[in-house]
Amino acid sequence: MGLAISHKPSKGIQRDGFNTWACLVVLLCIGLLGLRRPWRRWLAQTDAWAGWVNPAPVGVSNGLPPHGGNLSQEARQLGMKPSQLLDASASLVPFRPPRVLRRALSAAIQGQALRDYPDRAQADLRSAIASWHGVDPDQVLGGNGAAELFTWAARDATAAGLNALPQPGFADYSRALACWGGAIEQQPLPLEWGDCWPQPFPLGAIKGTSDVIWITNPHNPTGQLWSRASLEPLLARYALVICDEAFLPLVPGGEAQSLLPLVADHPNLVVIRSLTKLFAIAGLRLGYAIAAPDRLQRWHGWRDPWPVNGLAIAAGVAVMNDPVGLQRWQQRVQQWVQKEGTWFRAQLDAIPGLKAYPSAANYLLIQGEQSLLELREQLAQQGILLRDCRSFQGLGERWLRIGLQDRRGNQRILRALRSA
Ligand SMILES: Cc1ncc(COP(=O)(O)O)c(C=O)c1O
Repeated sequence: MGLAISHKPSKGIQRDGFNTWACLVVLLCIGLLGLRRPWRRWLAQTDAWAGWVNPAPVGVSNGLPPHGGNLSQEARQLGMKPSQLLDASASLVPFRPPRVLRRALSAAIQGQALRDYPDRAQADLRSAIASWHGVDPDQVLGGNGAAELFTWAARDATAAGLNALPQPGFADYSRALACWGGAIEQQPLPLEWGDCWPQPFPLGAIKGTSDVIWITNPHNPTGQLWSRASLEPLLARYALVICDEAFLPLVPGGEAQSLLPLVADHPNLVVIRSLTKLFAIAGLRLGYAIAAPDRLQRWHGWRDPWPVNGLAIAAGVAVMNDPVGLQRWQQRVQQWVQKEGTWFRAQLDAIPGLKAYPSAANYLLIQGEQSLLELREQLAQQGILLRDCRSFQGLGERWLRIGLQDRRGNQRILRALRSA
């Protein structure tokens, strides 16, 4: 028994040595191809490839805040109270949350919601969200804002391989991927676009061989609304498509472009939504994912036991279980975006030295002929916060993002900009 080892004549030793090397090289190549993910992760951590595959969170390494809405921090620096500031660096609906939500919150406080642990299964919340969207409750998972769900989506995305991130884009996807050492391929988007919505997603701009793509619809910070028809082919091209529709319910005609109807037939699709912008409840934190039940079960097993608190659950159940009220609220919000957005952009565009870009969403980008940093600082001194865009890849100090306000707020911003 055993292997018969034949001893070759010494003449063949040199050739044997060559064969051994050749075998080693072939084995190494097979190994690297087979272990694609570790190989890519290694590449991602190699400086020479940093521009191509970059695991560093965008906007974190350069010391700039990766998000707007840093109200308390900015107020401290300015020596003001947060309530004195008009925060247009975050993009929230400027109205008070609907009465049904406020009532649900006070009832929850007076009831058991503060004392008791929240329902781990989120049964009422999931079924309210499911019935609004016409999906199965097993396809729904509530989160502590959309941001928490990006963390779990990123764990799957890291396991799936290389992640394409269209840039300039929302920085939180990089943060979430960095948690798991996920490999990132930045994909520059064209910085010119028209004002007709929806627009085709610029598929041609996406190069490389990524396994996962993160889509934001409408896109942040540009406000472009992508058409569903142009996003659908991504489902055949990528092992995983994560579509962040945080602002979609605010966009006039936005729901018609949602990828939600495709979830049932595409286990490789995750749609993430937020309620924090629509209802101006960023402090309460509430978002949800709609995806294949087994994926969401897995996420549920990974996270801490009570990521969505009892008050957020009560608020979410109240608004999502009131389809007529929700419809009416969305209409009000979309009318505001349509009317105020069109007016505000025209006013901004008329300011010498500024260009205001078209946006389907409740925020828009302005570009200056020169750096706008000093202008931003001057407005901050007057209690108006605009979003510094230096942490967005591809943008820089000539860009600012402004969250739409009510007419009074927008006029205040315009007066300050004109006089600066
Ligand atoms: C595109 C986008 N998605 C998601 C979020 C986060 O949403 P949430 O407050 O629900 O965590 C933001 C916040 O600014 C955002 O801009």
